[in-house]
Amino acid sequence: MKVLVIGNGGREHALAWKLLQSPQIEQVVCVPGNGGTASMERCQNLPLAVDDFEGMSQYALENNISLVVVGPEVPLAMGITDYLQSQGLMVFGPVRAGAQIEASKAWAKALMQEAGIPTAKAAVFTEAAAAKSYVKAQGAPIVVKADGLAAGKGVIVAETVEQANSAIESIFQGQFGSAGNFVVVEECLIGQEVSVLALTDGLTIRPLLPAQDHKRIGEGDIGENTGGMGAYAPTPIATPELMARVQTEVLERAIAGLKSRGIDYRGVLYAGLMIAPDGDVKVLEFNCRFGDPETQVILPLLATPLEELMLACVQQRLGEMPPIAWKQGAAATVVAASGGYPGTYEKGKVITGIQAAETAQVTVFHAGTKLNSQQQIVTDGGRVLNVTGIGDNFQQAIAQAYTGIKSIQFDGMYYRKDIGHRVLS
Ligand code: AMP
Ligand code: GLY
Repeated sequence: MKVLVIGNGGREHALAWKLLQSPQIEQVVCVPGNGGTASMERCQNLPLAVDDFEGMSQYALENNISLVVVGPEVPLAMGITDYLQSQGLMVFGPVRAGAQIEASKAWAKALMQEAGIPTAKAAVFTEAAAAKSYVKAQGAPIVVKADGLAAGKGVIVAETVEQANSAIESIFQGQFGSAGNFVVVEECLIGQEVSVLALTDGLTIRPLLPAQDHKRIGEGDIGENTGGMGAYAPTPIATPELMARVQTEVLERAIAGLKSRGIDYRGVLYAGLMIAPDGDVKVLEFNCRFGDPETQVILPLLATPLEELMLACVQQRLGEMPPIAWKQGAAATVVAASGGYPGTYEKGKVITGIQAAETAQVTVFHAGTKLNSQQQIVTDGGRVLNVTGIGDNFQQAIAQAYTGIKSIQFDGMYYRKDIGHRVLS
């Protein structure tokens, strides 16, 4: 098989890497890919924009691509799956109507309420005055969300009524463009966040190993929100009892809700959950794709060939597959970021030590990197590398990731030193 992987993050490098471990996979082509996917054997980059659906389709048809795997939410929300399917291609990733579960928080909230999925109490607004009077009545802390896709920046956890009001103002004033046509105001939940990514063919839904991300830039989970500074799996807070509840109360209800809206959803459904101190589970959000950096810790532990699972989803025969098999042990990833991220940062810094970092227990997934004209790997984004360690337990996996990252250097490199603090303490 030849597979086309769409995207250029650490997630896509991990997807390409995992696919290439299977003897069934001859070649992976990444659109547009990064320095990591450009450097792997049997992998190459194709410099097209992720919204160039016609260009991708033409390439895929001319080059006998058997499967297209879509990484990011933006092309899914734009209907890449609908388009490529109409050209006769097999695509892993939901159709545009299904991607609304991530692309519109108001739509997702309505689906959750109708399907009986536990979630924070919320209201949707189309103008600031009504939103503010709701905030005044509810009090702080409270969460304000732009409805649409905002590259992970559209959620404001407001500690005060004033903060909530100013978030409402800026969203309606166009801070996130049309993503802010609606504002969702919701109850602030407390607890630990868990990411449950599940594979579905529209009928059957099966969870992958539960993971925990580290959203904040600073050690001790303080400071600004980021795309994710590190992750680990399988998180022990998601006990078998909790996962059984997630299966019936979240995942199966979501699939039923999508089906009742006439949506045949095939791909990844990612439930972002809040686990309260008393063990109660509520959905914070759904995503229509693999998580980043969760994928970089889940895939190293996957024993079933990934393409078999993906094809079973696309061909609607996931229910006939044996249970998903996993390797024993744990995985942890630490993100190396450019100095200044998630604010402004410089690009083009030469990265050294990647090969020295890689061992049987350590894999370096590239995110914001590229090959420069001298064939050097240089930084090309905020989150630059994900150094993933595996081991028999969390202590070992985390230690491996940190041993690996210590051999890597680039000007301004920053990483959190406390990834996995919850499972270590
Ligand atoms: P999202 O962009 O929807 O993934 O949300 C970003 C982050 O905002 C989540 O990972 C949570 O940390 C936080 N968040 C979202 N909704 C809530 C909520 N109702 N209560 C507390 N935190 C929330
Ligand atoms: N790790 C968070 C996300 O992928 O949305």
